[in-house]
Amino acid sequence: MDLMLKGKTAVVTASSKGLGRAIAEQLAAEGANLLLCSRSERAIAEAAETIRAQYGVKVESMAVDVSNADDIAKLIQFATKRFDRVDALVCNAGGPPSGSFLSFDDAAWEKAFFGNMMSVVRLIRGFHPHLAAQGGRIVTIASTSVKTPIPGLVLSNTFRTGVVGLMKTLSMEFAQDGILLNTVCPGRIMTDRLVELDSLRAERENTTIEEVQQALRKDIPLGRYGQPSELATIAAYLLSPLNSYMTGSVFHVDGGAVKSL
Ligand SMILES: NC(=O)c1ccc[n+]([C@@H]2O[C@H](COP(=O)([O-])OP(=O)(O)OC[C@H]3O[C@@H](n4cnc5c(N)ncnc54)[C@H](OP(=O)(O)O)[C@@H]3O)[C@@H](O)[C@H]2O)c1
Repeated sequence: MDLMLKGKTAVVTASSKGLGRAIAEQLAAEGANLLLCSRSERAIAEAAETIRAQYGVKVESMAVDVSNADDIAKLIQFATKRFDRVDALVCNAGGPPSGSFLSFDDAAWEKAFFGNMMSVVRLIRGFHPHLAAQGGRIVTIASTSVKTPIPGLVLSNTFRTGVVGLMKTLSMEFAQDGILLNTVCPGRIMTDRLVELDSLRAERENTTIEEVQQALRKDIPLGRYGQPSELATIAAYLLSPLNSYMTGSVFHVDGGAVKSL
């Protein structure tokens, strides 16, 4: 299926590895030009170089901490200078730390708020004129915790839910601009983030990561963790002109793990 992304431009944040990187690769495979960012200048430049060499599309990169307002302003300026259009935006960021409610002070709450909530607000506000000019698409990466909160992930559980409320609201406000926005929620997709979370859990439970993952797989009807490319496929579709009638929706990519209707 041709997603009609050839020659279009997508901005994908937090894309040096993991889910953001997989989405960037999928978009490049469809012929989209890319602006990538993550905090590490070296890591994001390497990702950009690899994708450019493999897919032959234009790929620019920049070191950006999405929790920082000035960094986001610079990203938007850079996009305006280097690309004549922006058709698609992926709001992604690193996940907040695990821990119980009483283990976090104000600083931890503020960090998660700016990283996982305000980054989405600022990115969408900043890129709105570009996206409105094209009738663009936005995908935000959240978590299945928006449906069933995950024990030990209070920061994520709280702000991801806020993001879904924001996206639904904007799907109504921005419909007149032709902008379609959706949220993609990973369940357990095999990335460094998941390995880190599972290792911490193994430590806490005094067991091995293999045992933790074996137990967690039992809760997934498809019986395995997902691959980043499996999430990237649905994200790329939602970011493409082929998605012409889905906005304000939440898509779980979780092997059936969420049990609610
Ligand atoms: N994998 C899953 O199954 C799963 C499940 C639920 C939710 N999620 C959420 O999905 C998002 C992506 O997860 P992932 O599994 O792909 O993580 P990952 O493999 O750890 O990759 C995280 C990416 O984000 C970048 N990054 C982190 N903090 C950033 C910041 N403040 N500004 C800009 N870039 C930043 C990292 O690069 P730098 O270090 O260079 O910044 C890296 O490219 C996270 O929010 C995670 O919590 C993932």
